[in-house]
Amino acid sequence: MKQIKDKHFIPFIEADKLQARIRNLAQEINKDYAGKNPLLIGVLNGSFMFIGDLFKSIEIDCEVTFIRVSSYQHTESTGEVKQIIGLKEDIKNRHVIIVEDIVDTGMTMQEVLGQLASNKPASIKILTLLYKPEALKVPLKVDYIGFSIETKFVVGYGLDYDGMGRNLDAIYVLDEKS
Ligand code: IMP
Ligand code: MG
Repeated sequence: MKQIKDKHFIPFIEADKLQARIRNLAQEINKDYAGKNPLLIGVLNGSFMFIGDLFKSIEIDCEVTFIRVSSYQHTESTGEVKQIIGLKEDIKNRHVIIVEDIVDTGMTMQEVLGQLASNKPASIKILTLLYKPEALKVPLKVDYIGFSIETKFVVGYGLDYDGMGRNLDAIYVLDEKS
């Protein structure tokens, strides 16, 4: 049991299980992208720990970079608009893999995918550690999934609750009884 601010979290995916699954994901990348020098684009902040471990297990030629997604209120009618910041690399004709910590409604990834695709990469895929299939609100193809989970709030291994909990080495789930 971990207390973060006002909430209690209980163990959900242990560290060894995370690491084993991440090595499997890396093997899939080794196989699918051999000779393609893929560019992994990590979405900060949540993906920082995951992409570090994933990257260490990738053995083919590959590169890594990071973006942030800033949310701002565009107009009242269009609601929240998300914009990519921080991409310095030219991704034209590159094989791009977007690396995310978790796909929830899918709105962030749909927006990021659309904006990156407009730069004409050779291919573009989404890789996420966690995926909440029942929370998805937009059509989105998620190509590589670490774990599909129920629609519950989780923290740890890069994921936060109000900025806290990212340093936990495993995934914890909100204890709904607390
Ligand atoms: P989406 O646009 O709804 O798919 O949200 C994606 C972002 O919401 C993720 O990159 C996370 O930053 C955050 N998020 C969604 N679910 C959780 C959760 O259970 N714990 C922590 N952050 C989450
Ligand atoms: Mg995120």
